[in-house]
Amino acid sequence: MYVCLCNGISDKSIRAVIRQHQPSSLKELQRFVPVGTQCGKCLRSARQILEHEQGSMVIYLRSA
Ligand code: FES
Repeated sequence: MYVCLCNGISDKSIRAVIRQHQPSSLKELQRFVPVGTQCGKCLRSARQILEHEQGSMVIYLRSA
């Protein structure tokens, strides 16, 4: 599913970037993928994906 229509970025792409680079903030995520750099309508969704993935990483670390 596309999250950012302006830049053609999918949720799958965002999740892959988060898992690879582990950005700690939305601004840091934007260094790796240009989400939210045009109209900005996708920023809320991108933040939700980031927060969800960050929560998942904590669970992965706890179960390891
Ligand atoms: S939808 Fe992402 S910048 Fe417009």
